[in-house]
Amino acid sequence: MNKVIGKPINRVDGKLKVTGGANYTADIPIENLTYGVLIESTIAKGKITKLETTPAETAPGVLAVITHHNVPKFNQIKFFPGGQSLPILHDENIYYQGQHIGIVVAETLEQAQYAATLIKVEYEIEQPTIDIDKALQQGDKPDRIFMGMLPAHSFRGDINYGRSQAEVLVEQTYSTPMENHNPIEPSATLAVWSDDRLTLYDTTQGVSSTQEAIAKVFDIPPENVRVISQFLGGGFGCKALVWSHTILTTLAARYVQRPVKLALTRAQMYTSVGYRAPTRQHLTLGATQDGKLTLIKHIGETITSPFDEFAEPVTMATNMMYACPNLDTNYHLGIINAGTPTFMRAPGEAPGIFALESAMDELSYALELDPIELRLRNHADVNPATGNPWSSKSLKECYQQGAEIFGWKHRNPKPGSMSNGDRLIGWGMASATFPANTWAATAKVTIYNSGKILVESATHDLGTGTYTVMTQVAAEVLGVSLEQVEFKLGDTNLPKAPITGNSTTASSVGSAVQAAAMNARNKILEMAISDSDSPLYQAKPEEIIFDSGKLLLQNHPTVGESYQEILIRHGRENIEVVGNSASKQEQQEYAKYSFGAVFVEVRVDRLLGEVRVARCVGVYGAGRILNAKTARSQMIGGITWGIGMALMEHTVMSPHYGRILNHNLSDYLIPVQLDVPDIQVQFVEEEDPYVNALGTKGIGELSVVGVAAAIANAVYHATGKRIRDLPITPDKLLGVAE
Ligand code: MOS
Repeated sequence: MNKVIGKPINRVDGKLKVTGGANYTADIPIENLTYGVLIESTIAKGKITKLETTPAETAPGVLAVITHHNVPKFNQIKFFPGGQSLPILHDENIYYQGQHIGIVVAETLEQAQYAATLIKVEYEIEQPTIDIDKALQQGDKPDRIFMGMLPAHSFRGDINYGRSQAEVLVEQTYSTPMENHNPIEPSATLAVWSDDRLTLYDTTQGVSSTQEAIAKVFDIPPENVRVISQFLGGGFGCKALVWSHTILTTLAARYVQRPVKLALTRAQMYTSVGYRAPTRQHLTLGATQDGKLTLIKHIGETITSPFDEFAEPVTMATNMMYACPNLDTNYHLGIINAGTPTFMRAPGEAPGIFALESAMDELSYALELDPIELRLRNHADVNPATGNPWSSKSLKECYQQGAEIFGWKHRNPKPGSMSNGDRLIGWGMASATFPANTWAATAKVTIYNSGKILVESATHDLGTGTYTVMTQVAAEVLGVSLEQVEFKLGDTNLPKAPITGNSTTASSVGSAVQAAAMNARNKILEMAISDSDSPLYQAKPEEIIFDSGKLLLQNHPTVGESYQEILIRHGRENIEVVGNSASKQEQQEYAKYSFGAVFVEVRVDRLLGEVRVARCVGVYGAGRILNAKTARSQMIGGITWGIGMALMEHTVMSPHYGRILNHNLSDYLIPVQLDVPDIQVQFVEEEDPYVNALGTKGIGELSVVGVAAAIANAVYHATGKRIRDLPITPDKLLGVAE
């Protein structure tokens, strides 16, 4: 049998990538290409009073300078699927530093870059609001919550009663900074018009949503817009929505009647495609002396832009994580002079679980109870927010296996009890969770009489392994070799799939591919058993197996025939079959989440306060794992991100001018090879018949969750100093144990 699901299969697109055969958006060869360069506001609030473009327009090679003075009419984009709803090149008003105020198009990139330097802008400057605390003081906008999708206020039980029952209270404020996405591939767009038809090569996580948005903006039928995104060098949320640079490039290409390419610089990535909003989180945990939670209160404070409602949803995981009868979670949202924040790997859970799992650690010390034991005593056997059963949950196994691998039982709980020379050693752990959603997706399977099998869906591969796992699913269902299957994605000409986000691609598109392959199998089976020339004539469907590219009688595996033989005999070049991921109604009764437990060891320099992560163990219950190798890679990537979140990442805005001061990879630190220790990843085997047809839960975002809390908890264990404000930079621990 060709059992390939779950195997550590190498990436099917690996060779293309390492040999330069994979064309990323900015590499697509296009004839007659011109180059766009963005003009950005250098102030954070105020008005453009003078915009002098003549020297740029007359500079060598320049084809156009488009600003709010001369922009042709187009429909403005709405927030979602737009990244933000600020009208583009609409008027002279400025709301944030880096706001796009124009685009220069020239024959070469250098000519466009030079011309952009000749544009003179004068401003009337107003004092921007940058600081989160000031923003909250200036006016809370409690109704402006995440497009209305997220309840601003969640509660159960009675928190006053919960407080009266508490024998131990932890009441603390945690904070996380603004963070920016740094995929290795910056966003890029290449717009090619032919009359009123557009081909858009775009670094997008959503070709279909981009197609819809662009069609609306330019008032053309969606079928006139083809969006292509075949390879992505990461996305992490910043490529999920349609941002201004894509609209401007498309607009410019129509204006100059030539194809235009625009690639964001690394610095422009910090002001053009969203960011993770900073958060303040006030957490109260109450418990009885035996470690039962009586109260959870979690108030998130965060910010958004002057024109949209996106709020980092930090309390979502708090609502469902522990079995506590009395809970109250709420938000306050302020407005700063920045663009609209957006999804970033585990939006909500990443900063929210940092606060919750730090507070749980604090509670474990207050109770003198092992942190794992505290979590076990409050384990949620059903979803405490709804009372629904979990579709599956292996969190207890994650704790147990993680503790075992890590050697947790050798931990002396006393802070500062372990050291090695100048280094204090600490061990910490935290829980992780992420929703396991499945969205509507379609896929098509075509079996050719050559034996080749083509599988298609307009989904994306962010570098995660979509090409590979979809090939595996189709090969397994059809009983063929991986080499026989080709999977195509990232093109609106293919069957529709959702935005590749929310860790849903394996589940959504995988279920659709599985369904399409099943349908194809059934169709060809029908052709065989109803055909008197077939050796399988009048066989019962359940007697037939699919193996080595053939339909075979289970009990007489020498009797059967190949897909090719069946198609050729029927005079068919191919058969085409579609499938979709539609979930069954009864599946809705289950609460669908993945869970995990993260364990880390840190070494903290006594004098300098520098934290190094020495080792890390992550154990996860994430449903069916489609490919052991790409899954492990993805978890290592997310844990590495978690190390960055804990120790390094933070975007610094100047409080007076609202400018991002560290918009490059030399000042915005992310972990490099030497910052990443041995990471051990293990998946608990989980069979989940309810989560979706394929049994997968998604892993991309789960991987980052819990890591920062585990590190902060380990730092406390090492030093006795609790850092509640990320990132844990050396200044916060300087001279921690002189
Ligand atoms: Mo993800 S933050 O949904 O791309």
